[in-house]
Amino acid sequence: MTKIILDCDPGHDDMMAIMLASVSKDIEILGITTVAGNQTGDKTFENARRILTLIGREDIPLARGADKPLVRELMIAPQIHGKSGLDGAELPEPLSPYLDCHAVDFIIDTVKASKEKITLVPTGPLTNIGLALIKAPEIKANIKEIVLMGGAVYDSNMIPGSEFNIFVDPEAAREVFLCGLPVTMIGLDVTNKSLITFEQIEEMCSWGGRISSIVGPLMKFFAQANLNMFGIKGAPIHDALAVAAVINPDVVECEHLFVDVETKGELTRGQTVADVYKVTGKAPNCRVALKVDVDVFIGMMMESIRKLDE
Ligand code: RIB
Ligand code: CA
Repeated sequence: MTKIILDCDPGHDDMMAIMLASVSKDIEILGITTVAGNQTGDKTFENARRILTLIGREDIPLARGADKPLVRELMIAPQIHGKSGLDGAELPEPLSPYLDCHAVDFIIDTVKASKEKITLVPTGPLTNIGLALIKAPEIKANIKEIVLMGGAVYDSNMIPGSEFNIFVDPEAAREVFLCGLPVTMIGLDVTNKSLITFEQIEEMCSWGGRISSIVGPLMKFFAQANLNMFGIKGAPIHDALAVAAVINPDVVECEHLFVDVETKGELTRGQTVADVYKVTGKAPNCRVALKVDVDVFIGMMMESIRKLDE
C-alpha cells in the first residue's frame, strides 16, 4: 500500500486522478491539497470538495493551498476546463469538511508524522510542493518519491515546448526537479496519447450509474475542449496517468535523464529541458515517461468509474 498526498487543481483530469486513487486497493490517500491552476484557488478548492462529496469520501483530509505561483501572476485554463473549472455537468454542493491549515503546512506535518515514506503526486502547478520543500527541506528524508503530471520532452500545450503545470510556476517546478528526490515526470509525451475516446465516453454515458452519469458528460466537455484547442480526438486524462503510474509503474516506460526547468527564457518559459543525448554530463535526476500502455491505463480508469457506480 503506497501512502500518497495528491496535490491538484481540479480540473477534469484531476477529478479522474482522485477517482482512480480513491478506489485503488494499492493506495492510501493521506490527504488531498489544492492549488490554483486550471482555475482560481477558490474554484479548484471548491471543486475538490464537490468531487469528495460526489464519491462519498469526506473522510479524506483536504487542505487548500496557494492561490498564485511563487513569483509570477496566475494563469488559468478556462478554455479547457470552463468557468467553474469543472464545466459539463452539475456536481453536488461542496459539503466535504476541510482542514483550516494551509496545504503547505498539511504536507509538511503529514510527511513528518508518517511512519512510512510518502509519495507525493502533484497534478497541478508545483507551487505547494515547491513551498513545502523551501519551508521544510528536512521532509525530504520521509518522501519516497514525487510522481508528477507535468512537463514534456517533445510535446507542448502552452507556448511551444512548454506544458501548463510547469509553465504556470516554473520557479516552483525547478525547486522540485532539482530537490534531489526521485522524480518521475508523467508528461504530455505520454498523457496526450492517454485518451478516453469519444466512443468510450458514449459507452460510459450509457452505463447510467450515479457517478458515470456525471463523469460521462464532464469527459464529453473536456474532450470537446481538447478537440477544439489541439485537435486531440478524445479526453486526455493527464493527471490520472500519474496516479496509474503509482499503482502500476509498468503502465509507462521511463528513461532516466537529467531534466532542468527554464525560468529565465522569454520564448522558453517553463520548458522541461531533458538531456536526452546525455551531453550535459549532469547525473540523471528524473525518470521521464516516454511510452505508455494506453489500453491498460484506460482500462484501469474505466474500471474505477464502474466501481464507483456500485
Ligand atoms: O497540461 C495538463 C495539465 O494541466 C493537467 O494537470 C491539467 O489538469 C492542467 O492542470
Ligand atoms: Ca491538473
